[in-house]
Amino acid sequence: MKNMFNLQNRRYIGNKYKLLDWIFDNVEKNCEGDSVLDIFAGTGVVAERFLKSHKKVVLNDFLYSNEVIFNAFFNSNGADYEHLRSVAEKLSELSKQNKRQNYFDKHFGGKFFSKNDAREIGFIRERLEALLESKKLEKKEYYILLASLVYSIDHISNTVGHYDAYFKNKEIKDRFEYKLIQNLDTTSNDIEILREDANIVAETTTADIVFIDPPYNSRQYSRFYHILENLVEWKKPKLHGVALKPEAENMSDYSRSNAKVVFSDLIEKLDCKYLVVTYNNTFNSKSSSSQNKITLEEITDILKRKATTKVLSKSYRFFNSGKTEFKDHKEYLFITEVRHD
Ligand SMILES: C[S@@+](CC[C@H](N)C(=O)[O-])C[C@H]1O[C@@H](n2cnc3c(N)ncnc32)[C@H](O)[C@@H]1O
Repeated sequence: MKNMFNLQNRRYIGNKYKLLDWIFDNVEKNCEGDSVLDIFAGTGVVAERFLKSHKKVVLNDFLYSNEVIFNAFFNSNGADYEHLRSVAEKLSELSKQNKRQNYFDKHFGGKFFSKNDAREIGFIRERLEALLESKKLEKKEYYILLASLVYSIDHISNTVGHYDAYFKNKEIKDRFEYKLIQNLDTTSNDIEILREDANIVAETTTADIVFIDPPYNSRQYSRFYHILENLVEWKKPKLHGVALKPEAENMSDYSRSNAKVVFSDLIEKLDCKYLVVTYNNTFNSKSSSSQNKITLEEITDILKRKATTKVLSKSYRFFNSGKTEFKDHKEYLFITEVRHD
């Protein structure tokens, strides 16, 4: 359907959308099985690619906003789009009439969004909660409308694509338009959605193929996407600093100095037939926040210790928030065959 957001229509650091063909072809060639666990699922684009070929697809990511997005796209078969469209139109109309300040425009108006846009966004968010509470929305409709709000704001934010900072000295135009996401048909699949630390998931969830795409540098996703987390959680926390971040939550060990230990623990714990791991070599970059916490040699050792591992690679043009270009950037794919049945 036109004028709707598809799953990949968001700005997300480290998403593998452009590498999907390469990843998927190699998985098809090397791995067998009917179930896939995307344990650091991010945008969910890799999981989406497995829907046609694999019956059971499990998505996990510890961010609240990703969990809502997964539920909206992967777990909302049969949602009544006629109803959704009429609710979205009504909310847009009401939000434009509303003049009262709310949490969202109080903090983010004139910074990450124009004042009017921020007011409309906060108004819609508040109403979605009220509609769910008064049972005027089913849970899956609520997920679709909330994920649609996330996609709509991501599209217009006054940033490079994450929320570590906003453009200053720039006139922010009113650009907000509340558009719906188009959910996926997963009626032939068995979908499971988790929001857990990956190392805990590894203890309790099994699958034939586990796709592993963790962060490899010190940039914390929960800090980069704090506005999306804040909007989804809607607990209206106190905010700090120029970027207006709440108290830290969901800080990843994969972005800290013990990354190697947690990665090794994860690989050890996972019960599956194949491990498919992505890695890229931004390690030599000058910016310290882009430096990898685990080296290529370390990751290779950890995987080879588990079982026979194939290492595939591909040159890839990579840009870091528009500033740094890594000319000899390489993307690696490790395929570890753990066991045959
Ligand atoms: C490189 S991104 C994955 C991108 C994804 N493959 C895609 O194509 O969109 C890494 C993801 O891991 C999540 N993450 C980081 N540490 C985690 C942890 N300990 N447990 C679960 N998720 C984690 C982040 O929120 C982020 O979405």
